[in-house]
Parts: sequence; C-alpha cells; structure tokens
Amino acid sequence: MVAMGSSEAILQVFRAPFIKPDSTYSLGSFIKYKKKSGSNVVRLFKCSSIYHQFPASPTTRIDNLKDKRFESSSCKCQNTGSVSGFTTENENSTWFVDNAKEFNTIQETGRSPNLLGSEDVQNIEKENESSLSDVIEQEAWDLLRESIVHYCGSPIGTIAANDPTSSSVLNYDQVFIRDFIPSGIAFLLNEEYDIVRNFILHTLQLQSWEKTMDCHSPGQGLMPASFKVRTVPLEGDDTATEEILDPDFGEAAIGRVAPVDSGLWWIILLRAYGKSSGDTSLVERIDVQTGIKMILKLCLADGFDMFPTLLVADGPCMIDRRMGIHGHPLEIQALFYSALMCAREMLAPEDGSADLIRALNNRLVALSFHIREYYWVDLKKLNEIYRYKTEEYSYDAVNKFNIYPDQIPPWLVEWMPNKGGYLIGNLQPAHMDFRFFSLGNFWSVVSSLVTVDQSNAILDLIDAKWADLVADMPFKICYPALEGQEWQIITGCDPKNTPWSYHNGGSWPTLLWQLTVACIKMDRPEIAARAVKIAEGRLAQDKWPEYYDTKRGRFIGKQSRLFQTWTIAGYLVSKLLLANPNKAKILMTDEDSDLVNAFSCMITSNPRKKRGPKNSQKTYIV
Ligand code: GLC
Repeated sequence: MVAMGSSEAILQVFRAPFIKPDSTYSLGSFIKYKKKSGSNVVRLFKCSSIYHQFPASPTTRIDNLKDKRFESSSCKCQNTGSVSGFTTENENSTWFVDNAKEFNTIQETGRSPNLLGSEDVQNIEKENESSLSDVIEQEAWDLLRESIVHYCGSPIGTIAANDPTSSSVLNYDQVFIRDFIPSGIAFLLNEEYDIVRNFILHTLQLQSWEKTMDCHSPGQGLMPASFKVRTVPLEGDDTATEEILDPDFGEAAIGRVAPVDSGLWWIILLRAYGKSSGDTSLVERIDVQTGIKMILKLCLADGFDMFPTLLVADGPCMIDRRMGIHGHPLEIQALFYSALMCAREMLAPEDGSADLIRALNNRLVALSFHIREYYWVDLKKLNEIYRYKTEEYSYDAVNKFNIYPDQIPPWLVEWMPNKGGYLIGNLQPAHMDFRFFSLGNFWSVVSSLVTVDQSNAILDLIDAKWADLVADMPFKICYPALEGQEWQIITGCDPKNTPWSYHNGGSWPTLLWQLTVACIKMDRPEIAARAVKIAEGRLAQDKWPEYYDTKRGRFIGKQSRLFQTWTIAGYLVSKLLLANPNKAKILMTDEDSDLVNAFSCMITSNPRKKRGPKNSQKTYIV
C-alpha cells in the first residue's frame, strides 16, 4: 500500500488485480534523487509513468467466509439429508421412532440401505471438509491478490500485511524479500510468472543501491530487507507525481541489522522461477548473472573466520531482532547452502567466473561437512558430548570446539527422543545453542545440506515431538523459549519476545510451506498434511495471523498482525504442493555425485580419528 500523493486525481487507479503489464512498461529508470531529510544523496528508482494500484483492504472477510462456510455446510447437510433420510435433530428422532422396527433389523444385520454406514459418514465428512477447504483456499487466493503491490502499472510484490485493524503500520506495508518468497512460489505454482519476474528484476536494481548507515556503507551485493513503492511529487513539476522504489537495507529496520537472508532467498526464487516457467532468458541476462555473482562474492569473501559457516550479527533473517542467534545461526547456513547449490546450476560458465565457481564448490563441501558433523545431535551424539574431555590442545581433538558437557541443557536430556535427531541452532567456540530452530532444519532437508538419514531423523523428531512443535498451530519458530534471566540477558528484555511469543517460541503458520517441501522431499507428505489440517481449522477464522502465542500455540499472538501475507501464501503453497508434490522440485536441490565424492574423501580422513595439519590443509576442488 502506498500513501497517496497530492495529485492523486491524475493517478490511474486499477481495481482489478493482475493486470497484464502495460505494453509501454519499462523498468524504472535509475536516476539520482536528493532526499529532503538528511544530506545523504540516495538513488531512487523512478518510473515516469504514473499508474498505480491501491489494493482493496480486506474488510470483513471472515464474516463473508463464515457465511460461505455456513452456506457450504448447510448445503452439504441438505445433501446428506436427502441421502440418509434425516435432516434435522427432530426429524432424526422421528425417524428413529418410526423406524424402530427397521432399527432392530439393522442391529441384527448390521446395515440398512436407508442408514448411513460409518464409511458413508466418513465420506460425507470428507466431502464437507474438502468443500470448506476449497472455500478457505479461495479466500486465501483473494487475499493474496489484494496484497499485490504495483509499480508503474505492473505487479512487483506483495505487502507484508494488509491488516485494517492495526493502528500502527510500522513497515508491514512494505514488500519484504523473505515474505514474498511463499507469495512468489504460490504464483509460480499457479503459472502466474510476471509478478515473480518483475520482483526479481526490480529487487536486482535495488542491489546496486548506495547504502549507508551513519557514514558506513555495507558490502556491495547486499539485497534489501524490504522496499516500498512511494508516490512522490515529480521533480520540477508540482502538478504531477511519480512512483519510486525505496529500499530498506536495515538502515531503518528495528535494530539496524542487515538482512543476510534476502540475497540467498533471491537466488533460490530465481532458480524456482526458471524451473517452473521454463523461461531461461531471465537467468541468462547479464545483469542477473552479475547479481548472482555479487551476492556470492559478498558471502564468499575472506574474513577472520575459521569455519565455513557464514558469520553474521544477531537477527539477520526471519528472526530479525535480538534472540541470541549471532555467530553462525543454522537458518542462514541452510539458506547459504541452498543458494550456493542453486547458483551453481545457474552461473554461466565463462572465463571470469572460474575462480568463483571453484570457491563455491569448495565451500559447499566444507559447509555440508561442518554442519553434518558438528551441528548434528541425537541421543548417541548427546551421550558423546556428555562424556567429552575438554581443554584438548591438538589437531586431533575430539571436542574441537571445547564444549563443556555441563552445557547440555536439562530440558534436552528429557526431550531428545530415542528415534530422531536435529541440527542445533548455532555453534561457536565453547558454545552450542541446543535450541531447535525450525526453518533451518526444514531447509537443511530441502537443500540436502544433511544426509538422507539425518533428513529422516529430523522428520522422526518432528513426529515424536508434535505436541511441542505443532500442538494447536504449526509451527514453533524455535523450541524451547528463553525464560527468566536468560530471556532478560539474551533478548535484552524484549517485550515482544517474551517466552512463547513471537520469535521466542511463538508459532508461525508461514513455516508450513517449508515443512511441506521438506516432507515431500523425504516422501513423507502425510506429516505436512497433518499440520495443514490443524492450521486450516483456525487460520481463516482467526483472520490469518502472523503468529500465535503460548506453549501450545493457542492464542493469536500478542502483537500479531492479521491478514499477514506470508501466512496466507504459506498455506496456499502447502496446499498446492500437497496436491501436486512433483512441483516441489523447483525448490529442492539434490546432492550431486561430485559433491558426494568430495565429501566421502573428507570423511575418510576421519576427523574423529586422525586430524593433522596435512589433512586439514587439504583442499577439495570439485
Ligand atoms: C517481522 C518478522 C520478519 C518479517 C517481517 C515482515 O519483522 O520477524 O521475519 O519479514 O515481520 O513480515
């Protein structure tokens, strides 16, 4: 949604969503624009045409839905009545009295042609369920389309939330890169490619923005966390307005943290677009190839780090406020791996990129080895850690990161199931963050960052810990919540991140789609279907909240937005993929044989047995 400019009368307002791009449409021109507040010269993208769509706000959707639900169920009831011969309670009882004789016969024979068998009842229930599900799905599509943001007359993204009940918009009226991913996937699955293509190209333009924060410029290649389409007076003409794209790289975000995940998601979406549309021309464009390389260079740049994992500040991803995930959080590592795999498929082989591709391949091997080996915990591994020796100074230390066994939290000793395992949230010298972070675990399965056995073990754990991770609403963003002094110190007493709320153990329905892709990859879609069913029972009724609170996810989140777009889109993607699991391939990456060979080469120089300077210096070029 965009604030209306002074001369709104001249804006052409399109009411119908999904207008085909204007034939005269061209990408916004890249021009210099002086910001009125502050002295920074910033570049804004403008388009000279001044068409704009204001999405209609979702007024009383749920009431409509309730009506529809009623219509749909009452309609089904009538059908049921006509089949079974009982429609209302009264009629039921009459029926039983009048048919007492026959009832006896039923008891004797077990079945009457006039009475519904349990199978029939089940079928009718199923029919009712599926028609209700259709109604909810339709509402989700309507809402998703209403959240579309246009730029120069073309759809380029979806706003984060379209909540008419919220008094403060904050930045929820912006297009967030990470939030758009499920929207984009939903459109791709529905063969609506334009919006995704436009999104990819426009965010690419924003990548080359001059970013500054208190006179410091972050690295080239950074993608914004979000952007907004603004309508501003046309320079030199007070009677006209124009649209500009105004990105936020974290300079305005709460906590001022750079979004590390944006560029990684951008690469993942780009590959999904190509796979789904069959349009190879986009990825072949020079500017798109340059965009991929810029992101890779930023991620693969040398630093002081000893680990192949990406070192980042707190809150660089979906969890975008202080939650103690600084260092090497799993979510970033899983997205990093996935983006490297996707980029490898898309980079055009040319002389100039040989070094980059070599660096990328080496990183893939080292990263997967590191995560599979050091982030993995199951009962066996936990017992190993429990018996760790510490203060080992040598190349062949078993306890490489000097983890003190006392770090194993008491909750985990109880919680770890006999069957199953997961990747811990973070690993630093002398520190393992044992919290379970959902997105990182899901995406490690999707991208093959973990082995097939580990992937299955993650799903086994989800199954075993359903009551904690799903309960009344899928899916806990992390488990368990930080409480007491830990919450005070780690979150900085953040009132939004109180225990079992928001990022601190809150339940986020958007995570459904990532769970679904992971389950489909492992050929266990029934797990995702179970979660979707739970969500479906509440989401539309609750007006599609951003997140839920409490240990079981029973309450709509304290400060949760309603009509949160990625809740809506996440649900849609799950439904679409469960109906057509083959399509999930656009998001998955499989381990290739080169990588497996290099990996087994690393395993044979077993880190648990023999670690010497020679082995550790070995490089693996795929
Ligand atoms: C919150 C979430 C973040 C999301 C944004 C917009 O800040 O933590 O992940 O991108 O809202 O929905």
